[in-house]
Amino acid sequence: MVLLAASITTRGGKPVISRQFREMSRSRVEGLLSSFPKLLSSGSQHTTIETEHVRYVYQPLEDLYMILITNKNSNILQDIDTLHLFARVVSDLCRGLDERDVLRNSFELLGAFDEIASLGYRENVNLAQVRTILEMDSHEEKIQEIIERNKELEAKEELKRRAKHLEMQRREAARRGGVAGGGGGFGASSGGMGGYGGSSGRSGYDSPTGQAPVVRDTGADAAPVQRPLKGKGMQLGKKSRGADLLGAMGAEPTPAAAVAAAAAMPAAAAASTSSPSTVAAARPRSSAAPVASSSSAASLLDLLPPVSQQAVHALVKERVSLQSTRDGSLQSLEIKGDLEVRISDPTHAKVKLQLAPEDPASPLAQAGLGGEVQYKTHPHVDKALWTSARGIALKDPARPFPLNQNLGVLRWRLASKDESLVPISITTWPSAAEDGSGECNVAYELEAQGIRMERLMLRIPLPETVQDESEVTISEPDVGECSFTLGEDGMPCLLWTIDSVDSSSNTSGSLDFSVTQGVEGTDDFFPVQADFIVVAGTMSGTRVESVKEVEGGGEAPWSTQAYLLSDAYQVV
Ligand SMILES: *[C@@H]1O[C@H](CO)[C@@H](O)[C@H](O)[C@H]1NC(C)=O
Repeated sequence: MVLLAASITTRGGKPVISRQFREMSRSRVEGLLSSFPKLLSSGSQHTTIETEHVRYVYQPLEDLYMILITNKNSNILQDIDTLHLFARVVSDLCRGLDERDVLRNSFELLGAFDEIASLGYRENVNLAQVRTILEMDSHEEKIQEIIERNKELEAKEELKRRAKHLEMQRREAARRGGVAGGGGGFGASSGGMGGYGGSSGRSGYDSPTGQAPVVRDTGADAAPVQRPLKGKGMQLGKKSRGADLLGAMGAEPTPAAAVAAAAAMPAAAAASTSSPSTVAAARPRSSAAPVASSSSAASLLDLLPPVSQQAVHALVKERVSLQSTRDGSLQSLEIKGDLEVRISDPTHAKVKLQLAPEDPASPLAQAGLGGEVQYKTHPHVDKALWTSARGIALKDPARPFPLNQNLGVLRWRLASKDESLVPISITTWPSAAEDGSGECNVAYELEAQGIRMERLMLRIPLPETVQDESEVTISEPDVGECSFTLGEDGMPCLLWTIDSVDSSSNTSGSLDFSVTQGVEGTDDFFPVQADFIVVAGTMSGTRVESVKEVEGGGEAPWSTQAYLLSDAYQVV
């Protein structure tokens, strides 16, 4: 089964909510759903309809339809079973089954949909389990609320107690006519502070408001944090204008647009709005995960060499995104970086990180743009130390870093249109003939010196009608391997994979292919997307040089890793 989308529409085919489990452009989903009612023959007892490209498996829900869109290799019986589960979950969560009710419960519904299917595959869950998982989430939220409330109450009580105490002391002092009282009050309050730095894994960051610092979990990074980036891959859809619009909506969802945007976001993008770790832990993973291997960014992260993490681990993550037109002009180039610190030993939680001076050999410095980077420190980090000496430490030297969390301490960003910064250029020569045949040459060239890509993957779309490799002729590329494949959205494409690209090997490559029919125009071969990873080093060359204990200044046990990942790197 490859479940492309689960949707609820009106009888007229207007989407109410829709969750896509594979990358699909919004216009494609809308198109598929709006053509659905036209395909229904009245009075028919069937619950499935097949078109040239997809299959609809559906069931009426009062005035609405519950529709699953699957690819055609999918197992119908299994899909019908899945459809019933979706329908039962919807009836379970919505009181009435009309458009308003569905919209009102859209958040819960989409959450439940994500429990039933992920990445296009059915999870091994039944209705009772979905219910439990959803309740568990809200149960957790309730507990969190209670904890917050208690903390507030405690803080108020503590204030009252202190006020009373001070008042008593003042009276006592007045009675004795002396000054002795003040010291006692101080002693009491600093006693209270002492408890704060305790080692129970509770850090100085635990503010009464419960505002968590910017924390990301490494484990979650590989999937849920990654996936939203793949959201940009929506631009893979044919109508790039629509996709841009969506991208913008995803970034700043206005209340009115939120539902619509949610409807078009790939599954995991919205999953990340709930706590990724709890969801992942609660969800019984089915064996159906291997799709991830075709999801390039996730599989690229698998290439990271394992690091034996010390008490202090510093992770430098950088992403580069690019859009260039097919005639070769650069439209946008952006580099975004994060430095994360993870402390796993409370005895080394008060540390100062020293970053190396700007590396003159980094691609960024080589392009002369080192000075253009904008840096931001975490609000609890000593900004002056960063700006004056590239040091990272907490503002309050008495406070420890939080334990066992990836704390983002520094971010940087650079947007540029400077061609000399382009790490790898991709050139295309497409052509289309009137008889529906077409051909294209795609070539890459590593431009940045001193970086080594562990893997480069180029994905080139093909006309929708190309159903198998017999319709494509690929002349052996001079490096790497190229094959016909169906993308995650069920769309045909060529995937060209090259291992290790650096200035001494596989520095450039070229590929020719032709398609016998179905080419409507050269647009059919775009956008070409590149996915790559550099497992040691980044564009900015940001690097931790030493980690010292704040007290005593000795070197702390530390480890580090730095990588660069592409993110929406496209020729459009
Ligand atoms: C160049 O790429 C090919 C194909 O991916 C790979 O097998 C080969 O090892 C690479 N060359 C070097 C020197 O790493």
